[in-house]
Amino acid sequence: MTDVDPDVVTTSRLVVRPPREADRERFVEFFGAEDFMVFYPRVLTEAEANDRFDHMLDVCRTIPFGKQPVVERSSGRVVGYTGVDYIDIEGTTWLEWGWRLIPECRGRGYATEAGRALLAKANQVHDGELLAMIDPANLPSQNVCRKLGFRFWKQAPVDGATHNLYTLRVGGAAPSGGPADVLARPDDEGP
Ligand SMILES: CC(C)(COP(=O)(O)OP(=O)(O)OC[C@H]1O[C@@H](n2cnc3c(N)ncnc32)[C@H](O)[C@@H]1OP(=O)(O)O)[C@@H](O)C(=O)NCCC(=O)NCCS
Repeated sequence: MTDVDPDVVTTSRLVVRPPREADRERFVEFFGAEDFMVFYPRVLTEAEANDRFDHMLDVCRTIPFGKQPVVERSSGRVVGYTGVDYIDIEGTTWLEWGWRLIPECRGRGYATEAGRALLAKANQVHDGELLAMIDPANLPSQNVCRKLGFRFWKQAPVDGATHNLYTLRVGGAAPSGGPADVLARPDDEGP
């Protein structure tokens, strides 16, 4: 009999699964690399990167579609992440979906493939609106966002920089409005 891990999402080319301690070194390297962190204000120090990884672990303990590793099946490598984290914008706590891949794995449709697969899980376990927040100059990311079904909401300053905000409703019957509190927020919110 084959054991199927319900936490693991598999597509034709990718596996999307919760982070584990063994992923720490890879993600600390990612968060400290200029090319991985493009369209982010700055790279993280080693301590900040460790905190960020701890936060990924924390969020994924309560949210099945928290930011998590994307693994390329052909190579077995972790090539990026997809999923949500909490963000407070204009007094509302949202679940904000983000994606990031190593440079050599961009332009192959991986972000869309991984995002669609994890969104299917989000649709099963969550009712509410998700947010995506993208630098207007980041055209590939906005293309991914639209392909995943997000709709443009508005342009707004977030942490002093203009972003295009997009929303996507998942699940069925819950009241709308960005109810991130449907899922328990971990005590440690991280950086
Ligand atoms: C954004 C990112 C995750 C997209 O991942 P990806 O797997 O390369 O995306 P996909 O291949 O699924 O799709 C990219 C889309 O953008 C398009 N695209 C690529 N480069 C583009 C460019 N310079 N201008 C416009 N569109 C572009 C692709 O053609 C594709 O659209 P299509 O399927 O309609 O042809 C990846 O580029 C990345 O990691 N970038 C750096 C980190 C980042 O910016 N993260 C997002 C922060 S909001």
